[in-house]
Amino acid sequence: VSQAAEVRTDLVRACLREPVSRTPVWFMRQAGRALPEYRATRGSGSILSAFGDAALSAEVTLQPVRRYGVDAAILFSDIVVPLHAIGFGVDVEPGRGPVVAEPFRSSADLARLRPFEPAVDAPYVAETVGLVRRELAGSGVALIGFAGAPFTVASYAIEGGPSRTFAKVKALMHGDPELWFQLTERLAAMAVASLRAQIQAGAQAVQLFDSWAGSLAPAEYARFALPATRAVLDGIADLGVPTILFGVGTGELLALMASAGPDVVGVDWRVPLDEARRRVGGGHALQGNLDPALCLAPWPVVADASRAVLAAAAAADGTGTGHVFNLGHGVLPETDPGILAAVVELVHNETARA
Ligand code: CP3
Repeated sequence: VSQAAEVRTDLVRACLREPVSRTPVWFMRQAGRALPEYRATRGSGSILSAFGDAALSAEVTLQPVRRYGVDAAILFSDIVVPLHAIGFGVDVEPGRGPVVAEPFRSSADLARLRPFEPAVDAPYVAETVGLVRRELAGSGVALIGFAGAPFTVASYAIEGGPSRTFAKVKALMHGDPELWFQLTERLAAMAVASLRAQIQAGAQAVQLFDSWAGSLAPAEYARFALPATRAVLDGIADLGVPTILFGVGTGELLALMASAGPDVVGVDWRVPLDEARRRVGGGHALQGNLDPALCLAPWPVVADASRAVLAAAAAADGTGTGHVFNLGHGVLPETDPGILAAVVELVHNETARA
């Protein structure tokens, strides 16, 4: 499916700070356990084998488009899929997340990080992208591809699972910077390969998830995370699709993240978008930032909070263009899908332009 053959979607236009018919909206983790149809389709096997079934993955990718009326689908996959596909030994535990049987410890482990070849190692990803694009053709709904940023993927590879302190990651990056840079260089190359394959198969925008970057002080982020993140964005720049860089707890990092070169900076719920605009400057669109926890409150609370996000986005640049409405992090599994559908309707109605 050629991108030129289709009119640019509002999602792509907002990312590029071009005029839109209304503010586009999608939700991180929109495909997932909040949806009964997801739970029914997903079954009980490993989620990594579910990704290997392109028809199933395409169906799950499309479920939130039908249910919520969002302006973008995000590919049903995970940030650890490339690591898994090269045989690094990753599993995803329900309710916990990625776990690594033999975490990355020393230079000997570099040999376990061979280059990722998407067409050979994970052909189901491009196949899923193709199936989804065929379904979405002419709908005005964009397909977003994604990858994990090197720091966040490294944190799983080194910690072996989720972490609150990131103590092992920090010990390695400060204690053996040379090894850290070798590791993150390889993870950057894997992310570039993965994103290029998704874009070439038809993804119309991509998001780089640096979910745990907020654990870093600005100086640490600048030295240890930013170079590899910038390398990923540079490595796909020639393909000309909009890029979104997102992390949680990144209020003090927003300007540095902007300097990595994404079109869009994703903001969590802790920093109002007008303040985020001051930190990021005028050269980037903003994505966010309704608190996902608030979506469990009664509708009037959610409606007011959604309007506050729209008002802060409009205050940020006078018009509200250059805003992609989203949550500040992923949909919580306990969320009532009806509330999210109502948020989409509210955002569309209140930002409709003549
Ligand atoms: O709708 C979507 O957002 C698309 C699919 C998607 C998944 N993972 C599917 C998934 C996306 C974009 C991701 C990215 C991802 N994976 C991130 C970045 C986003 C973020 O939340 O910050 C991270 C940190 C991961 C690692 C990961 N994978 C975690 C922390 C978990 C959660 C564990 C749990 O069960 O709550 C996973 C598993 C996972 N990835 C699920 C889904 C739908 C749930 C598990 C299941 O259904 O078995």
